[in-house]
Amino acid sequence: MADKASLTIGDRNFECDILSGSAGPDVIDIRKLYGQAGVFTYDPGFTSTAACQSAITYIDGDEGVLLHRGYPIDQLAEQSTFMEVAYLLLNGDLPKQDELEKFTYTITRHTMLHEQLSTFYRGFRRDAHPMAIMCGVVGALSAFYHDSTDITDPKQRMIASHRLIAKMPTIAAMAYKYSIGQPFVYPQNDLSYTGNFLRMTFGVPAEPYEVDPVIENAMRRIFILHADHEQNASTSTVRLASSSGANPFACIAAGIACLWGPAHGGANEAALNMLREIGRPERIPEYIARAKDKEDPFRLMGFGHRVYKNYDPRAKVMQKTAEEVLDRLGISDPVLDTARELEQIALKDDYFIEKKLYPNVDFYSGVILSAIGFPTDMFTALFALARTVGWVAQWNEMISDPDQKIGRPRQLYTGPTQRDYVPVDQR
Ligand code: SDX
Repeated sequence: MADKASLTIGDRNFECDILSGSAGPDVIDIRKLYGQAGVFTYDPGFTSTAACQSAITYIDGDEGVLLHRGYPIDQLAEQSTFMEVAYLLLNGDLPKQDELEKFTYTITRHTMLHEQLSTFYRGFRRDAHPMAIMCGVVGALSAFYHDSTDITDPKQRMIASHRLIAKMPTIAAMAYKYSIGQPFVYPQNDLSYTGNFLRMTFGVPAEPYEVDPVIENAMRRIFILHADHEQNASTSTVRLASSSGANPFACIAAGIACLWGPAHGGANEAALNMLREIGRPERIPEYIARAKDKEDPFRLMGFGHRVYKNYDPRAKVMQKTAEEVLDRLGISDPVLDTARELEQIALKDDYFIEKKLYPNVDFYSGVILSAIGFPTDMFTALFALARTVGWVAQWNEMISDPDQKIGRPRQLYTGPTQRDYVPVDQR
């Protein structure tokens, strides 16, 4: 690949450097373009734009490859733990035993919330969507943990990172408990990160809670599969919010808000609702037709991806986990049959083949989460819980990047050119 790109505008010629990474497409460095040529590039949705350098996650959308610090997602989902993946994303390498133990000890002892925050929940209606609660409570953390909001201090950045990773399961579990009118269950330090979350969610003070190893293992995989995913919309939101110097709690709350959208993390809730609405395999053709109809805004939720033009590797692990969990729990959920049938039909349909639309991470996750006992409106809160590790790792990487500056995109202006004010009695 050449090391320069040339751009000709009229009779003027401009050259830009081409930069190469360790894998993936090269980039054309256009940072000086506006200063030299007086033009902007135009890329709504950033389909062809690299907004940063990063060494955390690599995706090859054509090959369906997802690596976290070089390790393939299917190997991590099968062999690693969420604490180990969190350490890997944050620090760049898999931890040695003593490093993992120290990291896990630190995270475990940040899982409790300031007691005043439990009254914060009581301001919400019981039927508030858990993501509304997550946005509110996580944003409010900056009012309680002001001693870890100075982003120029690496120590405070690390404490804020540990607090966010540690407290998200507690916050999510409390949102669920609040919605069903049950008392909050405090963290228990002798449990794993995932087991602790399950006990805070499904345990009650009236009796001991035994963590089911099958469910714990399924949640471990689900958390790992959702941990990070390059510069997706919510991660880009966290980076942009952080670029102004805003505190980490407010920035993660911004990421949660963005993730909530049905085109992004909200798709897991939407996908299960869609599968339930389809109900029976015989109704699948009707919905496939709607998804292909340009006049119909309906889309197959859990299908398609901006980057993957092949099977999302996370969807494969998710489907295998769905089958294992339902089998071990002795549940035969017709929704899983509908999901499998829908996938088979769609993958043979020219529309989906031509547009390279495959199941993504959100297509099967709802089947598992529903089987475990989570209500549908908790699905995206679980996505946010797991993705906090990726957001925090990307936030730390951005803050430490000497090239980083406040994000401030420009525009192609299409509004009125200058005109004079007209007093109301002359309009
Ligand atoms: C996540 O970015 C990430 O990494 C996100 C994520 C992560 O881990 O952070 O992977 C998590 O958000 C996964 C995606 C979850 N969203 C959904 O499942 C919602 C349904 N899918 C989409 O709406 C869509 O596929 C997107 C939003 C995921 C991607 O949209 P793009 O890349 O902007 O593509 P597009 O909307 O321009 O679609 C391209 C074409 C269009 O047809 P044409 O206008 O070219 O004729 O494909 C069609 C779309 O109409 N299309 C679909 C479709 N997805 C795209 N048609 C029917 N059903 C779908 N699901």
